[in-house]
Order: sequence, then C-alpha cells, then structure tokens
Amino acid sequence: MIIIQGAKTIQGDVIDLTIPSEEEKTINAAGLMILPAVIDPHVHFRTPGMEYKEDWRTGAKAAIRGGCTTVFDMPNTKPPTITTTLLKEKKMMIDQQLKEADIPLRYQLFFGADKQHLTEIAPSKSSAIGIKVFMGCSTGNLVIDDDESLHAVFSIAAKEDMMVAVHAEDEHLIRERKANYSGEMHYPAHSQIRNVEVATRAVEKAIGLTRQYGTRLYILHVSSAEETALIKAAKQEKLPVFAETTPHHLFFDTDAYDSLGGKAVVNPPLRDKKHRDVLFDAIHEKIIDTIGSDHAPHTIEEKNKPYGECPSGMPGIEFMLPLLLNAHQQGRLSLSEIISLTSERAREIFRLPASEDWVLVDMEKTVRIATTESKCGWTPYQGLTLKGWPVYTVLKGRCYHIQ
Ligand code: DOR
Ligand code: ZN
Repeated sequence: MIIIQGAKTIQGDVIDLTIPSEEEKTINAAGLMILPAVIDPHVHFRTPGMEYKEDWRTGAKAAIRGGCTTVFDMPNTKPPTITTTLLKEKKMMIDQQLKEADIPLRYQLFFGADKQHLTEIAPSKSSAIGIKVFMGCSTGNLVIDDDESLHAVFSIAAKEDMMVAVHAEDEHLIRERKANYSGEMHYPAHSQIRNVEVATRAVEKAIGLTRQYGTRLYILHVSSAEETALIKAAKQEKLPVFAETTPHHLFFDTDAYDSLGGKAVVNPPLRDKKHRDVLFDAIHEKIIDTIGSDHAPHTIEEKNKPYGECPSGMPGIEFMLPLLLNAHQQGRLSLSEIISLTSERAREIFRLPASEDWVLVDMEKTVRIATTESKCGWTPYQGLTLKGWPVYTVLKGRCYHIQ
C-alpha cells in the first residue's frame, strides 16, 4: 500500500491518499500538489525498426519523468502498423521492452490507415485506440492522398465506431508548394512550404467527411488560428470533432529556427508568433481538448542535416507537463485547464477507464533543463528554466521518485 500524506489538491484541500500496491511506502507530500498522471495521446516511440532514435525502455523513462503514465503510440514505424498481425507483433515487442525497463507503462496503439490494407481496419478495432490517417506525408511513407481511400476510411471507422486521428496536412498542396521552393536550403522555408493553408485544406476536408459519415474525428497537432476557427465551427455544429495541440506549437514559433536550426523542423511546422496566443485562447474556449507531445525523436546527426534531408520531429514527452506548469506560474493557464488538457479530456474522448495514477508536483521547484532520458539525447528545451516540476509519478501502484 502506498500512502500519500498531505498532498494539496488544485482546489487547495490537503488530503491523504491510499493506493493499493505491493510496495509499503509512505510519501510525505507536504508542499506538493497532486494531479492525475498525464495521458499523452501522441508519441512516436519508434518500435519497431527505428530503435536507434528511441525505444520503449528510454521512452518509458522519459514518460515517467514527465509525470506521464499512459501513451498512445503512432503507426509510422518500420514496418508501419497497417495489419492486425503487425499490431500484435508490435505489442509483443513493446511488452518485452517495458519488462526490461521494469516500467509497466500504460499504452495504446494507433492503427495506420493504408490504401492497400483497408480491409484490415475493422479487425483491428479491439486492439487499437483508433486509426491514424496521414493526409500528408511525414516521417515514414504512410499517406492517404486520394479521396476514394479517405472516404473508405471514414466510412469504415464510422461503422465500427472507431476514432479517426488525422495528421491534417494536404499532400497535393505540399507537393505543389515544394516544387516552387526547390533548391531552398533554409530551415525556415519549411514553415512557408507547409503553410497554414496546407493544414486548413486538410482540416476542412476531414471535418466534411465527419459531417458526411458521422465519424469521430481527432485532429492532431493543431497549430494555427485558422484551424481553431474551423474546429470551433464544427463543435458549434455538434460534430464529434476533437482537437489536440502540442507543447512546441504553444511554446515555440518561427523565431526558433534562429536558435534551433534543423531541430525546429517539425510537421506541421512552427508558425508565426500570433498563432500561439490564439492556441492559448482556444484552450480557454475549450476548442482545443488535449495536448499531445508528438514526441518524435531523431538523432542529432539527422537533425543537423541540411534542409530537405533533415527529418521532421522533436522529442517532447518529458517536458510537456513542466512547460504547462510553468505557463500556469506565468498566469497563462489554470490548473484545471492543465488537468483537462493532460488527462481528463483524453480519458473522456478515448473512453479510457479511470485509473489510480497520479503525479505529485512541486510548484516551487525551479530547474534549468540540461539532460534528457530520450535515447536521441537532445531536447529543444535545453537551457530553458521552468518553475513547476514532477517529483513523484505513481503508475499502477508503483511510485517513481524523480530526482
Ligand atoms: O514532425 C513530425 N514527426 N511529424 C509527424 O507527423 C511525424 C513525426 C515523426 O514520426 O518523426
Ligand atoms: Zn506525430
């Protein structure tokens, strides 16, 4: 049994909590605040096939340090998770790695929509949290860029009551714009090629399909004001549309190319500063439901490559909660908004059962980010000083002390 003594709730009450456990432990939580553990609905832990960037041993450690006990992993692995057999094999590999790490991280897997394997979608229902659709290419070669397949995915998903999670960037427009920028070797061109219209065109299309078929739709990594306007209208129409944003779209903008170079290259790209304020407003207005880290590690060698060769994505799971807690200290987010974003809404939207997982945070702790648990060995937040850090993460009756 774990006894947590004297933790403060966000309402200001001081409580004791008893958690069923094989461990016998009493935690003096005086001065610490208790929050539900983070559910990160969007990670790329790279198993199978790209374990040189990340695996579930290192990914799980990074999750625990970030107060996170549940992750949803994406299917753009090698091979991609596009059949029920591959899904089963992936689960076995993950379970083995988590066993080796001795961290029983809770996880769910997205099934990858692929034109050649549409008949595999329905049978995946019981073992996948939803279907991931890349409407535009990103890391890997999963993409659904034709209307016929897209309609088929939304129709099957509606019939099966499965969630469709979209990477909403329009592949045709990306290709068109890329052609106009050929030979461009500057990282900031990334935000111009994959401009806001690239995203809104895909978001509009996905919402249209939800209107047509009634499919539950989760729009990943919302990055711009224009997308939030489309999502607001869809919610007003009472369509089953849900939206996620990311820490990097909240806390970085196109200025970050100056300091981070290729490390700032991500899909969808970083936007101009003005979008960040709108994303915060969209959180306050409950247009944005969740935050997903889109933890997408690549090696530093890969990220140092020139534009065009440098892969998109950055790690983020470890620092997502501290970034949000620090934003609370600056008056930008309430603690109830943080809980809603990091666990409550994901649990409701993805119909997860209640859990006894918690994170105890020290709102006064100030740390300058210097190291990371991620196998990629770097973080875009290096050198940043944040106030508000996890101290204990409680997962399935185990208590991890974060030093
Ligand atoms: O920047 C990104 N990186 N966006 C994605 O959609 C995929 C991800 C990755 O897997 O590297
Ligand atoms: Zn992603």
